[in-house]
Amino acid sequence: MLVLGVESSCDETSVSIVRDGKEVLSNVINSQIKIHEKFGGVVPEVASRHHVYQVTMVFEEAFKVANVKPEDIDLVAVTYGPGLIGSLLVGLNAAKTFAMMYNKPIIGVHHLAGHIYANAIEHDMKFPAIALLVSGGNTELIYMPDHFNFQIVGETLDDAVGEAYDKVARVVGLPYPGGPHVDRLAHEGKDTYHLPRVYLDDGSYNFSFSGLKSAVINLHHNAEQRKEEININDLCRSFQDSVTEVLVRKTLKLAKEKNVKNIIVAGGVSANKGLKERFMEEGKDFNISIPSIKYCTDNAAMIAVAGYYQNKVFPNKYDDLSLNALASLDLEDTYKNK
Ligand code: KG4
Repeated sequence: MLVLGVESSCDETSVSIVRDGKEVLSNVINSQIKIHEKFGGVVPEVASRHHVYQVTMVFEEAFKVANVKPEDIDLVAVTYGPGLIGSLLVGLNAAKTFAMMYNKPIIGVHHLAGHIYANAIEHDMKFPAIALLVSGGNTELIYMPDHFNFQIVGETLDDAVGEAYDKVARVVGLPYPGGPHVDRLAHEGKDTYHLPRVYLDDGSYNFSFSGLKSAVINLHHNAEQRKEEININDLCRSFQDSVTEVLVRKTLKLAKEKNVKNIIVAGGVSANKGLKERFMEEGKDFNISIPSIKYCTDNAAMIAVAGYYQNKVFPNKYDDLSLNALASLDLEDTYKNK
């Protein structure tokens, strides 16, 4: 089965063709990072305009690389939320136009389901599973008794992990998006600043990162005022150790409690080397899957794969051309009510 995936929820225009939920024939990604870098973050208006410029070329390239014809596609899977509304609409309308032109079935895919199913490309997902979803907008621990059954067990009470990474990076003068830069410098430094580990003492699986972020900002600010030298590598390492320790230990605790067969790590921050290393070190007794870096950040292959499984779990539940983009979309409810 050939699935065409389309993703445009933020600042990546991406189209992919995947065979049988596994074999990625093409995964073309046009990233706008360079464009938004000078603003220190994604500017929604600019993002949607660039999606419009790029989308047809990205479609063409995806077919060229995969060496398949539009007529060969069996199903169109497209991100319809959550995300930036102007950005989502571009990919969604392109996907609907394709579906209409070639008379193909279309299904809307939740962006976060896409991140989780990125793992199915290189690993076999085993259930029950838990997913740690860490991105620029989300930090969630999700229990999955089976395919497309998402039960949120814990979430951030304030900042998402990726957001905290990006803010810390900005304060210490690193470019946007800051996560990969902090990760890189952390590997050159030591945990000398001993920043707080926020476990929350309510026994919940929730997270909080705003206190940690403020601790880094204050430390940097006070040092500047006192004209003291800060070791940026050590600060990045201290921040990263604090974040990854809490993420990994809470995830492993839940995995034990639920006796899961698979721990799935997903979202942009799953590209973090420190997180991966800690999972491998502390989670030796668990079956942990983390996607390759190219499938961690936004891409359409993950949407095609999620679409493939969504179609298996909810057969013939196609959308029609009235499918609309939604800036906010709850993961649990989306699939509970199908
Ligand atoms: O999933 P994603 O591509 O976009 C959404 O938020 O949906 O995630 C982007 C986030 C950014 O905050 C970026 O800084 C972070 O993922 N990120 C990383 C790394 N690579 C990307 N954070 C920490 N370490 C990394 N290596």
